[in-house]
Amino acid sequence: MRFPDNLRIRYGYAKALDRRADDQRSNELLQESIDAYYILLQRPDIKNEMFLIVGERCINRMRFRGQFAKAIAIHKQIIDRFPHEPKYRNQLAVTLLTVNRLSAAKIVLQDTLHLWPNDGFAQVHYGFVLKTKDNELNTAVKYLKSGIDSKAPGVIDGRFYFHLGDALIRLGKFEEASKVYEDGVSNQVFLSKYQRSLYNVNRLTGRPWWSKEQTSYTSFFKMLQDNWKLIKNEGMALLNKEGYFKNEAENLRDVGEWKQLELFSRGIKIKENCKKCPFTCKIIETLADAKDCRRGQVKFSVMHPGTHVWPHCGPTNCRLRSHLGLKVPPKTFIRVVNETRSWQEGQVFIFDDSFEHEVWHNGSDVRMVLIVDVWHPELSEMEKRTLPAI
Ligand code: OGA
Ligand code: MN
Repeated sequence: MRFPDNLRIRYGYAKALDRRADDQRSNELLQESIDAYYILLQRPDIKNEMFLIVGERCINRMRFRGQFAKAIAIHKQIIDRFPHEPKYRNQLAVTLLTVNRLSAAKIVLQDTLHLWPNDGFAQVHYGFVLKTKDNELNTAVKYLKSGIDSKAPGVIDGRFYFHLGDALIRLGKFEEASKVYEDGVSNQVFLSKYQRSLYNVNRLTGRPWWSKEQTSYTSFFKMLQDNWKLIKNEGMALLNKEGYFKNEAENLRDVGEWKQLELFSRGIKIKENCKKCPFTCKIIETLADAKDCRRGQVKFSVMHPGTHVWPHCGPTNCRLRSHLGLKVPPKTFIRVVNETRSWQEGQVFIFDDSFEHEVWHNGSDVRMVLIVDVWHPELSEMEKRTLPAI
């Protein structure tokens, strides 16, 4: 016999390994189960029904282990076997997006929409790629809208409302954007119309602007203010060094120039940069809720005249964002929801950047601030330790 093993027995064996891997949290067993699934998939006598169950589970386990290239190969096998099912192409697109292979995902989605133009799931994902990769706002709006309207499983997702609204704002279609955000709130993908972060702890107090006293970090902010001149000197000394400051890379700028030098990111000290401004970093290190804030950053932020930053929301409601004014020329503004303020040299203000904010520099000299994120004061110590970094 060419295939002495009964397929069902082989399958039972793979599943048992899978279950044991889970129980014992063993990567070794997990790998054995993946290998067993994989061997099954290659057998010419495997029937469609089992091929699908095994294929999907195998992909799931491979993704869990970070074996994306192998998972993608299985996606392709499934698609070859079931070319008339949009679902399997969509699953491939999602895996490609997970590993940031936007161009490859785009091609898959294009093919899918060529065959099934009304597939809502493919539409929202295609719109998402057009918006985030190509900045093709008009076409992105068309696909995102139609995909969300389809109400297909998987389309009611904050990311799609987020980018649809943002694309509409950038196209000057404010009322339509406003409606999208309200629909997002009705569908519970946003905390509120103006607080559109997607990684949230729901019970936390949300308000656009905070006073120092409201935060529980009052003395830290006073210390920043008391030492602002030395902090400014350190920051300004780095300003004209080639390659230190990096362009804002999240496509938030409408026009102008906006650069940042990161000192801490996701609770990790960037040693190389901290060496360049030891005094500033020493002050940050006096507050664990700043230096260990795995959902925030500490950075010098430099904005040049003629800059406008589109209205935007940060990713999480788990941090508060403070700005220490270091060099503040006239005609520089930040709006958070419905209140617009200016910076003052030597003064800290605090806002919750999960709320919509927008920045202008209409002045004539560079503006520099130190941005320090801190954990939201209502998070427990356990949450600060265990929330995934952002
Ligand atoms: C922010 C922001 C930064 C700046 O701090 O979240 O969008 O430098 N603006 O004005
Ligand atoms: Mn911001």
